[in-house]
Amino acid sequence: MSNEIWGVLVLIGVLFVCLGNICRSPTGEGVFQNLVEQKDLNDRITIDSAGTAAYHIGEPPDPRSQAAAKLRGIDLSDLRARRVEVQDFKKFDYLLAMDADNHANLMRMCPPGSEHKVHLMLDFGEGTKGRDVPDPYYLGGEGFEVVLDLIENASNGLLEEICNKHL
Ligand code: 4NP
Repeated sequence: MSNEIWGVLVLIGVLFVCLGNICRSPTGEGVFQNLVEQKDLNDRITIDSAGTAAYHIGEPPDPRSQAAAKLRGIDLSDLRARRVEVQDFKKFDYLLAMDADNHANLMRMCPPGSEHKVHLMLDFGEGTKGRDVPDPYYLGGEGFEVVLDLIENASNGLLEEICNKHL
């Protein structure tokens, strides 16, 4: 695939999606943004996150997610929750669901022809195909570390896929 159209570099859009957009998907956004910056690809990949539910619109990420990410050098404090919109299926090339329920919700919302953009995040991880990122909101404790471990692993595979296919 060409990486240039009429001399303009292709910009790939990546949207991380969970239920509330305060734990898993902002973590995905922060981890992936960090990785993309490390690889000096921030002018090639645009990143955002959103939730399938409206409970926390306008709120910053859960303090427990922020604290866990901060320990790994990732700052989530500026992010604010929003809900997935139908325009997101046009705007983004990859919509990455954190679990099977969010994947099913995205598929229900998805306009015809954009289904190929919807993926399960952990399908990009080594040894995690088909698995969910467990919701840490009510689990607490170790749950936030598990989320980071799973997302860091899958982020490497996701970036590899984007680089191989598009950049
Ligand atoms: P997230 O976690 O989907 O990873 O942001 C949740 C946050 C809030 C709720 C559920 C899950 N809630 O029920 O309010």
